[in-house]
Amino acid sequence: MKIIVVGTGFVGLPHAAVIAEYGHEVYAYDIDEARIAAYQSGEAARIEAYVNEPGLSAAIAENLNRYLFFTTDISDIVEGTDIFFFCLNTPPKLDGSTDLSFYLKAAHHVAELLANREDLTRVVLVNKSTVPIGTARLLEQVMNEHNVKNFGVASNPEFLAQGNAVDGSRKPDRVTVGADTEEDFQILRRLYAQFVNHVRIRYLETTPETAESIKYVANNLLLSYISFWNGVGARLGETFPNIRMEDLKIGVTSDTRISTWGSYVSNGAGGSCFGKDIQSLIYQLNQAGRSTDLLQAVYNINEHQKTYLIDRAVHEANFSFNQKSVAVLGLAFKKRTNDMRDSAALKVVETLLARGVSEVRAYDPLANDAARSYWFNPDNNHLFSRISYHNSAKEAIAGSDALYISTDWEEFRGLSRTIQTTVKPPYLVIDGRRMIRDFDSLVGSGFEYLPVGGSLLKSNAAETK
Ligand SMILES: NC(=O)c1ccc[n+]([C@@H]2O[C@H](COP(=O)([O-])OP(=O)(O)OC[C@H]3O[C@@H](n4cnc5c(N)ncnc54)[C@H](O)[C@@H]3O)[C@@H](O)[C@H]2O)c1
Repeated sequence: MKIIVVGTGFVGLPHAAVIAEYGHEVYAYDIDEARIAAYQSGEAARIEAYVNEPGLSAAIAENLNRYLFFTTDISDIVEGTDIFFFCLNTPPKLDGSTDLSFYLKAAHHVAELLANREDLTRVVLVNKSTVPIGTARLLEQVMNEHNVKNFGVASNPEFLAQGNAVDGSRKPDRVTVGADTEEDFQILRRLYAQFVNHVRIRYLETTPETAESIKYVANNLLLSYISFWNGVGARLGETFPNIRMEDLKIGVTSDTRISTWGSYVSNGAGGSCFGKDIQSLIYQLNQAGRSTDLLQAVYNINEHQKTYLIDRAVHEANFSFNQKSVAVLGLAFKKRTNDMRDSAALKVVETLLARGVSEVRAYDPLANDAARSYWFNPDNNHLFSRISYHNSAKEAIAGSDALYISTDWEEFRGLSRTIQTTVKPPYLVIDGRRMIRDFDSLVGSGFEYLPVGGSLLKSNAAETK
């Protein structure tokens, strides 16, 4: 089949690379010329500067210019295309609604090109982007406006988790296809032939509106799990003595009806999807006059988690951030990615700067470069000039008065020793991910330890739990 993937970011690039593995002729198209040049080079470092996913650059190199082609211009290649996938960014607007401008611009461009094609075989236009319920109809309208002939629209939402994009695309839990006609279902069955009768992977065919809703309900339910543990589990562990959070988690999730996924306490979930998708669903339901109390609570709890440990440090540890140097470990929204979109660290660092810290000593194994562009520092007087970037946790910790663990990178599990050999008490360790297992030795050496889901630990036995 001939396929054009429109938009080659975190979703479009792994999708294009993996469907090229099935031997289809795949054109990955983007308006960002530098990005396309980097992908076209086949060089891992250049590709990873844009999308850093395990196995992705190898998958690209394998099929580059064989089944997988990159382009910034599709005007000459639309003839004979069976499927277009729309993988455009759909960011939130200030009121929570979805900004469809990137999506619509691409849709109109494709429609203009399709309106002039000579080969009128069926073409299916598929939304992979997360878009408000009813957007497949909007796409249909755009195609009709341009008088495109013999097309179908479909919704095939993407469920991949960043950090696992390639494996997740090769072996998804389910493939959800919402379309209107048997002919369009058949075209997508040809593309996804290996999944259609798979013993484990669920291949679901439904209406476009149902497929669009599945994406929103699934993402919001996942965030609800996280907010439940943060809003209830963490509060319990921080309130009552002698609760072992890890045991609580095991005891509760041993019930097979209860999800193990999301059953942890943290400094909030970030990433490009959770926050924006819940705001969008709240907006969509509010517009229809429906109640959104549950969704609003889930959202509020998640946002609260991102910075409340800073307040706890002030109130429980009597720590004043003013003129202090704080190491922030982990900037990406989760481990194994350089993506900082909606990362808790963004709020943490900005809150610390607002609290008057003299210095933020930042370190992330992958996201230092991404962070530099977020906290662009136009002149040396800017508040962001107080952020310095370091090549290791040890280097970031050196000379600091406190540290804050924001991302669950595995390497932070061994920090207890690094801390003890690099800085001296008084020193406060704020653990937003409960990464440090041997906190006993830290506390025994005079350090203060403030974890999410637990009370402040310090060497005075009466005040520990
Ligand atoms: N990131 C995730 O983990 C994830 C998971 C599931 C679903 N989604 C959804 O998938 C969609 C894409 O997300 P993403 O993270 O890949 O976004 P992204 O910002 O990483 O990528 C979007 C790409 O589209 C390109 N683009 C913008 N306008 C264009 C145009 N007119 N023509 C061609 N290309 C254009 C941009 O240059 C960019 O490369 C969003 O709707 C998102 O909600 C994302």
